[in-house]
Amino acid sequence: MIFFSYFYAFQAILTGCSAGGLAMIVHCDDFSARFSHKVSVKCLVDAGFILDVKDISEQRSFRSLYGGVVHLQNVRQVLPKDCLTNKEPTECFFPAELIKSIHTPMFIVNSGYDPAQIRNVIVPASSAPDKSWLSCKDNIRNCNSTQIDVLDGLRTTMADALKVVKDKEDWGFFIDSCFTHCQTVLDVSWNSHNSPRLGNKTIAEVVGDWHRGRTQGVKEVDCKYPCNPTCNSQSPL
Ligand SMILES: *[C@@H]1O[C@H](CO)[C@@H](O)[C@H](O)[C@H]1NC(C)=O
Ligand SMILES: *[C@@H]1O[C@H](CO)[C@@H](O)[C@H](O)[C@H]1NC(C)=O
Repeated sequence: MIFFSYFYAFQAILTGCSAGGLAMIVHCDDFSARFSHKVSVKCLVDAGFILDVKDISEQRSFRSLYGGVVHLQNVRQVLPKDCLTNKEPTECFFPAELIKSIHTPMFIVNSGYDPAQIRNVIVPASSAPDKSWLSCKDNIRNCNSTQIDVLDGLRTTMADALKVVKDKEDWGFFIDSCFTHCQTVLDVSWNSHNSPRLGNKTIAEVVGDWHRGRTQGVKEVDCKYPCNPTCNSQSPL
């Protein structure tokens, strides 16, 4: 989604969720370059921080899947050159690499236990053919302690990947521990009394503060599931 007034724009924000969030990361600086320097341009990525991690059968099945996209669409041309000098193009297509070379201020909203990443990256069907994970993938409340430990690896890896953002002024992130995908698109997760909160602030509040430049962006990773009581009312999308 693009919100801007073409003739008198003084602020522009590019945002996208899920695969659209990834596409937005790829194009954020290009988008920004289309405006004059007087315009404040920012990017908001929701549930697009897809990680390049092994699944539970120790395969990088998602990286293989992505490899197909990178080749089919000839994505290489838009990938960061410094990444391409020592990594495969497919590795450079993941947000953890992309963000290192982005200059436009960005805010990253993601769950550390994003159901879409759990289903497609950590526990794809090929990795758990015996159905033992089905109910856990369906709802995190059904996961046993061993499974929760595995899922927590996603949150930990995400926190590590976001360390490069700590030094980036005007950036922020909100990584909660709610089992929810795409939290900026529905009022219930974006800004309601049932919304997930970090430091008692909703996503809308922290993104609003960041967008208006009132404060340094919030850079917060939630505690381990199931520590956050404000997640209770969220249903997995
Ligand atoms: C959790 O479930 C998995 C898959 O069914 C099983 O392998 C594991 O032993 C279980 N762990 C506990 C603590 O029950
Ligand atoms: C959290 O925020 C809500 C509404 O913004 C407020 O009513 C409540 O007092 C706050 N709680 C704490 C512990 O600060």
